[in-house]
Amino acid sequence: MNKDVIIALDFDNKEKVFEFLDKFTDCKPFVKIGMELYYSAGPEIVREIKKRGHKIFLDLKLHDIPNTVKKSMKVLSELDVDMTNLHASGTINMMKAALEGLTRADGTRPLLIAVTQLTSTDQESMENDLLIKEPIDKVVMHYASNAKLAGLDGVVCSPLEAGKVHGVCGEKFLTVTPGVRLAGDAVGDQKRVTTPALAREIGSDYIVVGRSITGAVDPVVAYKQCVKEFLGE
Ligand code: C5P
Repeated sequence: MNKDVIIALDFDNKEKVFEFLDKFTDCKPFVKIGMELYYSAGPEIVREIKKRGHKIFLDLKLHDIPNTVKKSMKVLSELDVDMTNLHASGTINMMKAALEGLTRADGTRPLLIAVTQLTSTDQESMENDLLIKEPIDKVVMHYASNAKLAGLDGVVCSPLEAGKVHGVCGEKFLTVTPGVRLAGDAVGDQKRVTTPALAREIGSDYIVVGRSITGAVDPVVAYKQCVKEFLGE
């Protein structure tokens, strides 16, 4: 299935992760493991969560010379995750090398998704710090096109950009979108948020939801509400 709700497991240790996952007794949500958890608990946490039957998005955002990224992706492909990512700013050659590294001997591989411009980068910091003078929307769409050209499966973007990315890169090019909140939940540090229902309407393929689920009084109820709104199930 190419549409799903992914829970961001933004916990700093393994005990908290398992305490959280143990609440899900009748379903196995797709989960995201980010840098904080991976760097504190190591590859073993990936294997353990996989063994419990969850699909995994390993969000490590690689960015290095093509050869290093290729070899690192080869290691990650052995962890048997379902999705992983890198920075599109590493160039088309780096993305192609990543794809080669990620592809296993039998031709299978996890989905590979590119980060375009981080949502923490705005027009001003892009111009002043990175010396990129084009409008940020144009840069995001250009990086998405580069990712498609390199053969990647999609990009991480705001749900509000999902329709435009599909317009530029095609309906099959995946949009993986954080910045999702259940109606009435605190926005926190996210700048522009949508509900799962609106993300579905605009055309997100995967929504990534952290605090609206992990911080809920009943995370299972909150997860099921996201699934109901986003997938109509
Ligand atoms: O708690 P919240 O729903 O805001 O969590 C969103 C998750 O998606 C976090 O793990 C965050 O690091 C990640 N993310 C994001 N914006 C991006 C890329 C990743 O919020 N542009």
